[in-house]
Amino acid sequence: MEALERSIQECANIKELEKLRVEVFGKKGYFAAEFAKLKELKGDQRISFAAKVNEDKERFTDLINSKKEFLETKETKEALKKDAVDVTLYTNASNVGALHPVMSTMDRVIEYFASLNFSVEDGPLVEDDFHNFEALNLPKFHPARDMQDTFYFKDGALLRTHTSPVQVRTMLSQKPPIRMICPGSVFRPDLDLTHTPMFHQVEGLVVDKKGAVSFANLKSILEEFLKHMFGDVKVRFRPSFFPFTEPSAEVDISCIFCHGDGCRVCKNTGWLEVLGCGTVDPNVFKAVGYKDVSGYAFGLGIERFTMLLCGVPDLRSLFEGDLRLLEQFR
Ligand code: DAH
Repeated sequence: MEALERSIQECANIKELEKLRVEVFGKKGYFAAEFAKLKELKGDQRISFAAKVNEDKERFTDLINSKKEFLETKETKEALKKDAVDVTLYTNASNVGALHPVMSTMDRVIEYFASLNFSVEDGPLVEDDFHNFEALNLPKFHPARDMQDTFYFKDGALLRTHTSPVQVRTMLSQKPPIRMICPGSVFRPDLDLTHTPMFHQVEGLVVDKKGAVSFANLKSILEEFLKHMFGDVKVRFRPSFFPFTEPSAEVDISCIFCHGDGCRVCKNTGWLEVLGCGTVDPNVFKAVGYKDVSGYAFGLGIERFTMLLCGVPDLRSLFEGDLRLLEQFR
């Protein structure tokens, strides 16, 4: 019994203690054997023996319980120490965010024109018919309105379909000369590989005295801009139509994927259309009360630029917020 007592006192872990507990209290253990001896005793001897065994039993119960408590505390402390995390330790494994690719393209465009002294203007997303269409030489029922499907509110207000209304607002609130861009979101009910209902444009407008601003100025500024964005590309101006410019042009760059040889992205033409532009239509100047001025304007889609620059095949994926995609642009 003393040997057992000593083993309990010296025992180093819970598992060992449990083994000892069975040796003491188990069916084949020490106390089972002691109680078995009772059968052979009689009278006073039996009573005093039983009292002693019960006393011993109580002592062992206490001994084992307190040892158990001691070992449990000790093991918990050791586990905490072993698994401790040093929160002051430096790590570079944390999740650092980044600008969304559309926003970083937007920033590049803004920075370029800001460096050429263009002011950056802003306008409302909820527009009225006058600013979004009419003042831009798009009277009601004009067929060219079909070029831009529109989200309308019940009261006739609308979500702007392009950033061009900011041209109108800027001319109405400022005197020429004007040299502005307007970056911002625009809305059209489209959804497919290359269209989302919300997307971003940058509008540009330059206005000065009559004869001071020409199509040649427009050409050179856009050529330089596109080379800045896409590197060493060829740039071509293709006659086109926009109600707010006359003459109007669409601008293509030589395909950045096949270098003009023809591929799937450029639909085998060797060219990628990247923006629209022209010299400002006199009707637009009339709508804002400008006289004896000349000007040019241009507009581009930031998502189109981003898809080309980053090689994103499905525009919708840029707006799904999937970290596996976004992490690639860190
Ligand atoms: N507003 C046109 C659009 O959303 C883009 C545009 C084309 C703007 C030519 C212009 C311009 O200022 O001159 O498709």
